[in-house]
Amino acid sequence: MKEIYEKMWKLAKPYYEKGRPMDIAHVEWMMKYALFVCEKEKIDDEILLPLVILHDMGYAGLPKDNPFNLDMRKTHMKAGAEIAEKILKQVSYPRDDSEKIIHYVSMHDNWALGDNEIYKKDKILGVFDDLEFIWLATPQGFPALMKILGFTEPEQMIEYIEQDDKPEKRPFATKTTKELFEKYLSDRKKELKK
Ligand SMILES: [Fe+2]
Ligand SMILES: [Fe+2]
Repeated sequence: MKEIYEKMWKLAKPYYEKGRPMDIAHVEWMMKYALFVCEKEKIDDEILLPLVILHDMGYAGLPKDNPFNLDMRKTHMKAGAEIAEKILKQVSYPRDDSEKIIHYVSMHDNWALGDNEIYKKDKILGVFDDLEFIWLATPQGFPALMKILGFTEPEQMIEYIEQDDKPEKRPFATKTTKELFEKYLSDRKKELKK
C-alpha cells in the first residue's frame, strides 16, 4: 500500500478505535480488497483508497446505538467528512482529490436515504458500495453483523443477505466485485453444511 495511505490509516485508526467494535476489521478488509479490485479492473486508487480509509470515522464518539438507525447514518457521514478534511490536509493530499473524497464520505450511505442513482453513475462509488455489501458475507463481517442484527443462527444472516435489494437497486459495478460476493456467500453457505 502507498506510503500516503499508510499515513492516512495511522491518523484514522484512533477514531475507529472509538467507533463500532468491528470498524477496524471492516476498514482493513475494505482496504485490501479495494486495492485488489483497482488492480484487476484498472481503476485509479487515489480516490477509492482514501474514501475506504476515511469513510466510517464519524462513528467515533457516537452513542453505541444501532448503526442502521437513520439518524446515526446521517450523523456519522457528516462527522466523518469533517474529520476526513482534517486528515487529508494533514497528509497534504491534492486539493481536487480531497474535495471529492470529503464529498463522498459525506454521502457514502445515501442509498439508505433512498438515493441509488449516484452509485450507478459513478464507478468509484459503485465499487465502494459493492465492497460495503460484500463485507456482510466475509468471515469477520458475517458474525459482526449477526450480532448487530440480533440473529442467533447463521441461516438468518444468509437469508438477510440474499433478500437485500442491493444487487437489484445498485447492481455490482464490476465483474470482480460480483464474483467476490458470490465466492464469499457460497463459502458461508458451505459452512452451514459442516
Ligand atoms: Fe462502512
Ligand atoms: Fe458508513
